[in-house]
Amino acid sequence: MNTLNDVMVFEIPNVHEERGKLAVVEKEIIPFAIKRVYYLYDVPSDAYRGGHAHKEQHSLVLALSGSFDVIVKDGNTSKRIMLNKPHIGLYIPTGIWREIENFSSGSICLVLASTEYDESEYIRDYDQFKLTKTT
Ligand code: TYD
Repeated sequence: MNTLNDVMVFEIPNVHEERGKLAVVEKEIIPFAIKRVYYLYDVPSDAYRGGHAHKEQHSLVLALSGSFDVIVKDGNTSKRIMLNKPHIGLYIPTGIWREIENFSSGSICLVLASTEYDESEYIRDYDQFKLTKTT
């Protein structure tokens, strides 16, 4: 069963040039194959996103622009991680509760996901999530 020890910050390899920077996510650097990419944009600063865990999905969350806080919980412990660099990704495996808040103006939250969208693999109730961690 995953805990916060399995949540990891990944540095995405990047190329710096005078013309700008380029970051590359290749399959070797993340611990799952990407099936879907989605992103949050035009998010009001007081919005609360996430508020769920996944039974199947692994994710890599990146702040492509601006910043926001990701709160991860494993049922025992919680951690707040600010993402504010486009080449830093937060890996969240299955069975970890996540919340995202404190969005800066113009921020973009990119999520690389290991599964297609399937509402039945979401756990959106925190008490139910806690139960999955004790049984
Ligand atoms: P939701 O999971 O609540 O977003 P967040 O976790 O960022 O707060 O999703 C918002 C809506 O978008 C919800 O109706 C489900 C839908 N949705 C899709 O249709 N496809 C997707 O890939 C995702 C992630 C969400």
